[in-house]
Order: sequence, then C-alpha cells, then structure tokens
Amino acid sequence: MITDRSYAVEPWTVRETALDLDVLAQSESVFALSNGHVGWRGNLDEGEPHGLPGSYLNGVHEVHPLPYAEAGYGYPESGQTVIDITNGKILRLLVDDEPFDLRYGRLVAHERVLDLRRGVLERTCEWTSPAGSTVRVRSTRLVSLTQRAVAAVAYEVEAVDSRSRVVIQSELVANESLPEPDGDPRAARALKSPLEQEDHFASGNRLRLVHRTRRSGLRVAVAADHTVTGPERTTTRSESGIDVARLTVTSVLEPGQTLRVEKLVAHGWSGTRSLPAMADQVDAALAAAGHDGWQGLLDDQRACLDDFWARADVEVEGDEEIQQAVRFALFHVLQAGARAEQRAIPAKGLTGSGYDGHAFWDTEMFVLPVLTHTAPQAVAEALRWRHNTLDEARERAAQLGLAGAAFPWRTIAGPEGSAYWPAGTAAFHVNAGIADAVVRYVEATGDTDFERETGVELLVETARLWRSLGHHDTHGVFHLDGVTGPDEYSAVADDNTYTNLMARQNLLAAADAVERHPRVARRLGVDEEESAAWRDAADAMHVPYNEELGVHEQHAGFTRYQRWDFAGTRPDQYPLLLHFPYFDLYRKQVVKQADLVLAMYTCGEWFEQHHDEEQIARNFAYYEPLTVRDSSLSACCQAVMAARTGHLELAYAYTSEAALMDLQDLEHNTRDGLHIASLAGTWMALVAGFGGMRHDGERLRFAPRLPERLRRLAFTMQFRGRRLRVDIGADKVTYTLLDGPPLRLGHHGEPLTVGTDEPAVRAVPPVVRRPAPEQPPHRAPNSG
Ligand code: BGC
Repeated sequence: MITDRSYAVEPWTVRETALDLDVLAQSESVFALSNGHVGWRGNLDEGEPHGLPGSYLNGVHEVHPLPYAEAGYGYPESGQTVIDITNGKILRLLVDDEPFDLRYGRLVAHERVLDLRRGVLERTCEWTSPAGSTVRVRSTRLVSLTQRAVAAVAYEVEAVDSRSRVVIQSELVANESLPEPDGDPRAARALKSPLEQEDHFASGNRLRLVHRTRRSGLRVAVAADHTVTGPERTTTRSESGIDVARLTVTSVLEPGQTLRVEKLVAHGWSGTRSLPAMADQVDAALAAAGHDGWQGLLDDQRACLDDFWARADVEVEGDEEIQQAVRFALFHVLQAGARAEQRAIPAKGLTGSGYDGHAFWDTEMFVLPVLTHTAPQAVAEALRWRHNTLDEARERAAQLGLAGAAFPWRTIAGPEGSAYWPAGTAAFHVNAGIADAVVRYVEATGDTDFERETGVELLVETARLWRSLGHHDTHGVFHLDGVTGPDEYSAVADDNTYTNLMARQNLLAAADAVERHPRVARRLGVDEEESAAWRDAADAMHVPYNEELGVHEQHAGFTRYQRWDFAGTRPDQYPLLLHFPYFDLYRKQVVKQADLVLAMYTCGEWFEQHHDEEQIARNFAYYEPLTVRDSSLSACCQAVMAARTGHLELAYAYTSEAALMDLQDLEHNTRDGLHIASLAGTWMALVAGFGGMRHDGERLRFAPRLPERLRRLAFTMQFRGRRLRVDIGADKVTYTLLDGPPLRLGHHGEPLTVGTDEPAVRAVPPVVRRPAPEQPPHRAPNSG
C-alpha cells in the first residue's frame, strides 16, 4: 500500500520525488499513459526493475478454456484475457559497461511527474554507477491522443563529471515474462509467451516486429523509428530476432555533453488483415508521426488537452488533495475512452491487467456518464462497440431461452466471459445500464443520427430481454425473478429494486424511441402490440417495500434476512468475499456496494414522483449500516445520495475515498490497474453529489450545496452543444453559459433560463439536518 504521501499535492501534476521499489507496481498504474487504443504502464524506461510490465492494445486478447468442476447448460466454455503486447517503451542504458539499473550503484535523485495538461510522463534522475561515473537521465513519454496508433519517448543521457562511454539500446520486446499472480481472483491470469513470431525487421533506425496470438489468431504489429542526436562519432546499429528488435546507439560523452534518442512507436492489430498489410499499416502510422516529429506530437497533445480542460475542468477550493485527485481522475477517464473507437472501455482502462482486462457495467454506469458531459464523442464510440456485439448478445439470450439481447457481464470481445453464473449471467442489469447510457447520451447531445443508427436497436433489444425475462402475476404485477443486482453479496434474488426500476426506464425509453423512429421500428419488427407490452410491464413493475420498517427493499424479502454479524467481523476480514463463503453472504443483510442507494440516484425521478424526501432519507439511513463498500464502485454512489439527503460531511468523506482510491491505493490492488469507475465516480460525487446535477429528459437541474471544508466548487460541462459553468460557493451559485443559445435549468426546484449575455446567480437554501447514519464497525469512510 502507498503509505506516506507518495505524490506531492499539486493542482496539475502528480509528482513522485523519490523512487520506492516496494510500490513500483502501484506507481506503474498511476503513471500509465493511454489513449484508449494503446496503453503503456508507467514502467521504468530500462524495463527493470518492474512491478508488472504492461503494454496493451485495446481488444488484443487471448482465449482460454474455462474449466468447471461441475459444468452446466449455458456455461461459457471459453474465457478471454488481455495480453501484454510487444513492448515499445524500452530504452536500456549502459554507462562504461555497467547497466543503468537502479538497484545497483547510487541513485542521487529520481523524480517522475505526470503532467495532466501536457499529457506526458517526465522522468529525471541522477545516478552514479558502481564504478563511479555519474549520469543524468531525462525522459519524456507520451501516448498520443491525436494519433491513436502512436506513442513516443524522448530519452536523454548527460555525462556529469567524467568522460563516459554510453550505449543506449532502444528495443521492441515481445513475450516479456510476467510475475506469477498472487491468487487474488481480481488479478489477471498470466499467459506464458502468448505471441508467436511472424516477422522481424531492422534497417537503419527502423525496427518492426509482427506476431500473432496462438488461439485467438490476432495479428499484432509494432514498429519504431528513431532520431538520434549526439556528439560526433555517435554510431548506431540495428538488428532483429525472434522476439526482439534493437537499435544500439553508442557514444562517448564529455562532462556536460548529452546523447538524445527520440523514439516513435506505432501499433496495430487485426483479426483479418494480412502480414504485409499490418506491416504497412504501422509503417504508415510511423510516417505520419514522423511528419510532425516529436515536437509536433507534444504540441498536438497539449492542444487536445487544452480543449478537453476547457470543456471539463473541475476546480475545488478548500481541499488541495481533492483538487489534484479530480483532475487525475478526469485525465485517466479521458485516457481510457478517448480513442477506444468501437472497442470496450475495460474496468482498469489500459492501465493494468486486473479483471483480465474485461469491461463490465462500470463502463455505462460510471465512465460514460462523465464522458457524456466532457468528451461525448467517446460515448457514441463506446456504445457503437456494444452495438457491434449485438449478434453475440442475441445468441446468448437465445441460449438462455430469452428474447432480445443479453449483454455479457464481463467481456473483451463480446462473448460472456464470466464463469460464475450467479454474479455473471444473472446480473442482467448490465443491459439496463447500456440502455441508460444511450438515453443519457442522446438527451445530452441531441445526436439523433446516433439514436436512429445505433441507439434504437440497443433500446429495443434490451427491452425485449426484460419483457421475456419477467412475467405478470395473477394480479397483473410485473416481476423480474432470480436476478442479481449491483450488490454482489446478494444473488439470484426476486425483484431487485435497482434492476426493476432500471428495466422500467429501459422499457419506457424503448417504447418512446420506436415512436420517434417508426421506420427503424418496422425494420426491427416492432409493432404496436410489442411496444404496448413494454409500457404495460413498465407500468406494472413491482418495487418491493417493507411497510413495517417503512423502507424499500433491495430485493423482495431482503429486510427479513438475518443481519450480518458485523460486530464479530474483524477489520482484516474485509473484503468479505476473500474470507467468507458466498452462500453465507447471500442469505444475510450485508451489502457489498450501493444497490438500493444507487437506484435512488439513477432512478431518482421515480422516487421523487412516488415518495417524499423523508422516504429517500429513511432508505439511505437503513442501508448505510449494512454497506461494507467491498467494491470501489460504492463510495461515489453513497457520496451522491449522502449529499442528496443533506449529510454533507459524510458525502465529503465518501468523495475523498473515491478520489484517493488509487493515489493512496486504498483497496491495496492499484498494482493491477486503476479503478476507472471510482475515478469517474470522483466527478460524479462532486458534480451529481455537491452540484446535485441530474438530467431529466432534455433539462438539466442542479441542487448545489457544499460541505463545510470546501469553499468553492466550480465545474464546466457540456450539454446539447453548449458549455455551462457552474460555480458554487457557500451561499450562492453562479450559472454561466459559455457558448450557445439560452439554456433552461433547474436550481433547487426553481426553473431558470441562462444565456451567454448574463450569468444567473441564485442563493443556496439551507440544508435540512438529519441524524448522521452509521456505517458497519471498521467501515466508516476513509477521509484521506
Ligand atoms: C464489483 C462489480 C464491478 C467489478 C469490476 C466488482 O467488485 O462488484 O460491480 O463491475 O468489480 O469493477
């Protein structure tokens, strides 16, 4: 775990001023660079020492059999796992015959800085070799947000006090050996040598390796080109072999002289393209990158991020840690989705191999809501990926005896990858999450082309699933029995409230969408009978309620269960899933992550229409002492609803937890990759929590209120082609429309219209005070 403050608290950078080899794997995740297509973990340039080497190309995976002790009908037979592709970031250094290895010699200084505005990772260090030669090494690395195949490194060595013979070996390396997994089921399986060599090439300063995965048959090509600047008599030599291609640069440096290598790396993969076509593809990408050169890449990266921050920045006054964390979070969320382009956005982005590189409902319910208001194009692309996998989802539904499409619980390429059906197959709510993301995106952008071409079909096929999965009972009430909601400490339960209410929204959205797009409806074979059946099911949806306690049930019968023995559970027995059998967790009142509480956020309108404020507050207070937050997805949801129910200090503590999840390694597994949903949740906690932002249809509403510690919270977001800035102080809020035609908003229930000519200023109403809810023993939120 990252204990003391590992990173300096600065508003636009994450700075590590000393190297701690014990937390190398964590910092590799924190310093990972990605554009959603290519991902480079923050491994040291020289490759070793490392925690977990990682270079990824979104979609490149290997398949493996899923063995079952007791197999059953409909169990997926094959799993998918992300693989480490050819590593293009390695630059090894030899100083007077001694390898530059931080474990030997003397490290005088070592600093790494992730610059969130320039989109680069910079490293500077001074090292004295065991033989006494001192060199300064500087490197700058980027994964281009503007040229999706391209990553680059500028590497510089300077002799400090004596004449030094230096050799830089710039390499492409395939099939690096990976550390053995430690048995945590959330880590990835390590496949040995997943790449078979097909072609290698080295000529002049150019290198290329082409490989193919053994079973999934994907071809992966990586190429590099170099610009070398050094003193006279600097020489270069290139060579290539089975799994390595290398450019060796040799020079003799007088004190103060430097040797610099700029390395451009291009990546490509395909399941269909031929070897020559792949070689050409990466060569062409290199040519395009070389055309602009290193400086061009740096300038474009900066311009791209300037544009992003102008649309997405969040300013926090009163807590510098949260200020840094929310920018770090937004940066990584952007990196995860920016150029994913019709591929999945995995739970870890491309920052590590945790969860085998799979994408879950995290994408649609946590990541896409942020991107909807900050980088909406990425949302359309992510949903097009789901659309591209519709055939597999239809097949899966048919296999399960259901209509429509059953999207996978976890996947890379589209097929279901979960071998544990109670929390995989039965977690049908992922379908409603996809529908929700479609609706949010279309409402927030007005992109009707997307709705017609992609959205309607996703809504229709998911609505069909719900209609066939559920049934009307003899009283006409609609039930979804035997499903698993977000809380994975309950499974295969009847009428999970979150699932039912999300399915209800999905059914209604599909019925509305086919009315707006009758031609698409006809093409999909939807008639009035069918859409009326969706509305009937939605209107008759059961929502379980315990009259005696006056609270909604997470699922039918949940509040009757015995409570978990929280008092008898030691702090070291969390997360419970690693210490207790699921069968026992399933039959007790204990909640892994926000479920009913999440429903009150994502289906807030239903609660507001059918119940009063006290009901929402009572529900929140009931589930708090049961919720152990063994998933990093929970704190941000609890933050939103704590703020909604007036528990502002509690909301603040949950916000800190979500925000610092990776910067402080709160779940002790940042080494496997960042928790992208929790990072996205930092924005959600601030904007939807303290900002109270919701959108109902095409209208945005806010209910801003700050906890005592925050003096000011200001955020910019996009909505229907406009940029809106919301600036919240302790007593007043200023809504400023930065561009576009006037926008109608809600402020604590009051309608208002804001135009670019004049900001609207409103007072913050006082908060209704309620007794603070309690958490299970040892599970109060970490307030950083
Ligand atoms: C959570 C899931 C989540 C998955 C990936 C699990 O621990 O319970 O809700 O989708 O992690 O982040």
